[in-house]
Amino acid sequence: MDRNGVEAVKARINIADVIRRYVDLKPVSGRWMGACPFHQETKPSMSVNEEEGFFYCFGCQASGDVIDFYQRINGLEFREALEALAAEAGIDLQYSAPDPQAKAQQQKKKLFLDMHDEAQEFFRNCLGHAVGEVARNYLNRRGLAPEIVQAFGLGCSPDDWHGLDNYLRGRGRDPEAGVESGLLSKNQKGNIYDRFRGRLIFPIKNLSGRVIAFGGRIITEGEPKYLNSSDSPIYKKGDHLYGLDVARQSMTRTRRALLTEGYMDVLSLHQFGYTDSCGVLGTALTKDQVKRLAGFCSRVDLVFDGDNAGRKAALKSSRMILLQGVACRVVLLPDGEDVDSVLQQHGRDGFKQCLEKAQDGLTFCFDYLGREFAPREIMDWAKNFLSDLSDPSLRAYYLPRVAQGLGLAEAELRLTANASMQRNAPPQASSVSPAAVQAPATGKEDKDDRYFMKFPIQYPEYIPALEQRGFENVLSSQWAPVFWKKLVAMQPRADLTRLNQYEKRFYIQCREQLRENSLEGKELLDEWEHICNKIAAGQQKMTVEQLKRSLKEAQQTGDMHKVKECLQALNDCLGRENEQH
Ligand code: UTP
Ligand code: MN
Repeated sequence: MDRNGVEAVKARINIADVIRRYVDLKPVSGRWMGACPFHQETKPSMSVNEEEGFFYCFGCQASGDVIDFYQRINGLEFREALEALAAEAGIDLQYSAPDPQAKAQQQKKKLFLDMHDEAQEFFRNCLGHAVGEVARNYLNRRGLAPEIVQAFGLGCSPDDWHGLDNYLRGRGRDPEAGVESGLLSKNQKGNIYDRFRGRLIFPIKNLSGRVIAFGGRIITEGEPKYLNSSDSPIYKKGDHLYGLDVARQSMTRTRRALLTEGYMDVLSLHQFGYTDSCGVLGTALTKDQVKRLAGFCSRVDLVFDGDNAGRKAALKSSRMILLQGVACRVVLLPDGEDVDSVLQQHGRDGFKQCLEKAQDGLTFCFDYLGREFAPREIMDWAKNFLSDLSDPSLRAYYLPRVAQGLGLAEAELRLTANASMQRNAPPQASSVSPAAVQAPATGKEDKDDRYFMKFPIQYPEYIPALEQRGFENVLSSQWAPVFWKKLVAMQPRADLTRLNQYEKRFYIQCREQLRENSLEGKELLDEWEHICNKIAAGQQKMTVEQLKRSLKEAQQTGDMHKVKECLQALNDCLGRENEQH
């Protein structure tokens, strides 16, 4: 990780300024408060700490630094969020991470993005000129408004093997780069030609609004009906959603996403005022896509055709959404209709009626299973669903619901699900995934250690003194000693990016509590003394245990001299302890 870059970004970018883009922040007793965008909430439950650079939601415990926030709200990877924020702040990340391979890759991506801009320009030009007449007529016939054509940057490709190819060559672009970027195709003989010929062109954009790929619909006759760019360094099938760059703003407002299958469906939805709509791009909905959506909304309304294929797709997609802990509803359209045809024929209200008949996602799954599956398949589905939930709290949430939905006893289902979970347990190597990070559990050691760890987090000026006294010896849980080592190493200021998600949340919670309840003067000294006594007692206990072990050993080996020594030492030790109390 580019530590300097991370530091520079956090130093340069004000977390409140970033959060304010998505959330209305109001000053409340020296800090910023707003409605948390990560769960259904209208009350201001999220606190933003400008000086220390973190946010914390009292409702859903979402927390982190500015990079975490940006990542989550935009559904980005850490690196993507860092890059976007660095670009905003004018920080050159490569400068601080001179990795030649990464740099070459970066340059390649930039080249491909530039070439996509040029291709986009080419396709749009075509639509505006004589070659675009058929496409223009087609758009008219389909009732697509010019504003939508404009807003989504639609274009068309001429029915020509070397239209875009020649255009790019004319601008000095290497045709091989055109192939690698997914814009052009190459046959077995090594000839390079246009991938999109005689098609209506839909640019596919990333969240920064850059064109990263294209979709093309055949205008007259031909196969396949829809064609997408091939995968490239800037576009991976299943990572993106069509129209999300336009829809994201509405989604953060409505907290809902309307998700459909078709390009034309997305465009019609926007045209008829459903601006929180986007589309999957000709593949089954992926986990990455759901995560991306989850950054903007808490519920996904799936809109599918009412036919068999549509219902089957709805089952798979709703399962995927529910697994990520996102709410889901299923809107089934009348047989033979799609979103576009409903809207064009019955308008906004016609579609609204369909929306009102939407079924809860999980209920839809049970209904579908009950109709189409054998009991044995239903049980398998339920077991797999529960065991695929990576988050234990989500499993706890779903278990009674799944049990009820299937008319099973909860205990019964828990048993079968647990058994199948153990079989499916991921190997240890996956410990990098956040779910596998050791979470502070709720045992007694954990409770004690949370108490102890709170002190150095809230009063970091005591860390050196605590270290000197052997603070680590009072910590008995698995997680606290690791966390403590990090705190010591991070003097004088904690770097949140070095903490795992649980450490980070705990750290932020403690810092938040400090606002409400900060010890001063005598109180603070008393607390310090109390902790010091605990350390001393802990050390004493360790010594006593050690002596007891030695004593036992000496007794076993019959070393009477040693036995005597140990007894003497124990006596001294315990005597001291009694004096202390
Ligand atoms: P449909 O065949 O239902 O098309 O495919 P559509 O969206 O209603 O398109 P129009 O209204 O006839 O223009 C639904 C979606 O499935 C993907 C596309 O994303 C399409 O929008 N698809 C379909 C493909 O990727 N390839 C195909 O050959 C067909
Ligand atoms: Mn259609």
